[in-house]
Amino acid sequence: MDLVRQSPLGAALIFFLSFWSRWTRSGMAHKSNSIPKGTQLIKKVLGVVAAGALLVATLTGCASSTTAEGGLIGVSMPTQSSTRWISDGNSIKDKLVADGFDVDLQYAEDDIPTQVTQLEGMLTKGAKALIIAAIDGTQLTDVLQKAADAKVPVISYDRLIRDSANVDYYATFDNFKVGVLQATSLLVGMGVYATEASTSADGANAAGPLNVELFAGSPDDNNATFFFNGAMSVLQPLIDSGVLVVKSGQTDFTQVATLRWDGAVAQKRMDDILVGSYKGGAKVNGVLSPYDGLSRGIIASLTAAGYTAADLPTVTGQDAEVLSVKSMIAGEQYSTIFKDTRELAAVAVAMAEALLKGETPETNDTTTYDNGVKTVPSYLLTPYIVTTDNYKELLVDSGYIAEADLG
Ligand code: GAL
Repeated sequence: MDLVRQSPLGAALIFFLSFWSRWTRSGMAHKSNSIPKGTQLIKKVLGVVAAGALLVATLTGCASSTTAEGGLIGVSMPTQSSTRWISDGNSIKDKLVADGFDVDLQYAEDDIPTQVTQLEGMLTKGAKALIIAAIDGTQLTDVLQKAADAKVPVISYDRLIRDSANVDYYATFDNFKVGVLQATSLLVGMGVYATEASTSADGANAAGPLNVELFAGSPDDNNATFFFNGAMSVLQPLIDSGVLVVKSGQTDFTQVATLRWDGAVAQKRMDDILVGSYKGGAKVNGVLSPYDGLSRGIIASLTAAGYTAADLPTVTGQDAEVLSVKSMIAGEQYSTIFKDTRELAAVAVAMAEALLKGETPETNDTTTYDNGVKTVPSYLLTPYIVTTDNYKELLVDSGYIAEADLG
């Protein structure tokens, strides 16, 4: 009813109806036979017409209130189990709504068929563009063909969608650099590098030997390979020279990958490594972890095996999740990587809006992200190392995390 009241036509109708109803009631208060028959008929006809008009006004009022000017945009996120995706989803939605779009935001809880069904639903509802962070980047080929058939542009969000020509643009961070930064902070934390600006030429080869173990992300996420390759570009020379020793011997991506970025899987693998390779009293000095959710599983395993904040290895991470920043403040996790999801959301939304206006979205990389069918034009944002030294400045002062949440 409020919707109807807000439109001038609706307000006029409501005024008329209330006038009509008072007029009718005043008639009923008298003996009905004291009112001339003609007047009664006019009242009835007017009542029916007004009620019909009100119904139409209500329906059109409702329709216009749910159909924003810009139309519907589908936003498909992988899971709510990680706080970062919740922030991503909310940032994208808020921006689109502010720009006059309706948003269908869905989370697939790491289930591939659910994500496909949700995307099909968005197309059925008439979405004009899709922004997608894929669970498995290789499993969306068929639904993206449906999007292309319906002329719906697709923005690949954070994770590259592979094996499809129907990916228009890619909004992400410099993922290779994320891996370089993770390895760099691992080396700083272990004292191999003096600062984050150091390189292996700066005396790193005098250090060690130090025991490190390696973890990578989900093998079906294109980013996981980029992170791992970036990290190994820094670590491999030091493994080759003997500064770093991987006692488990597990250094191939296939051996160290963690399906669905699952912290419990990483925890179990760390348990197995401790039992298998560190029984004789050797200590783990560092763990390359590509994501905070894995870092916390790894730390849980180490803690269960007797490590304390005083002797926990240097453990890296990514995403600046509140639980991991708290862990850093408690002296457990050493570092994380901050990727400002608010900026990423802004880039993805700008891409979608440009495409809908028939314009060309801004990109800054047109060579790196080959998805197996095409090189997807991309915009890469900058990632940053976070430690206890700079978390306030990067995370709290920027409003990314409320100080109270770190309580
Ligand atoms: C990656 C993403 C990371 C992390 C990880 C697990 O694709 O780039 O920042 O969020 O997924 O969710």
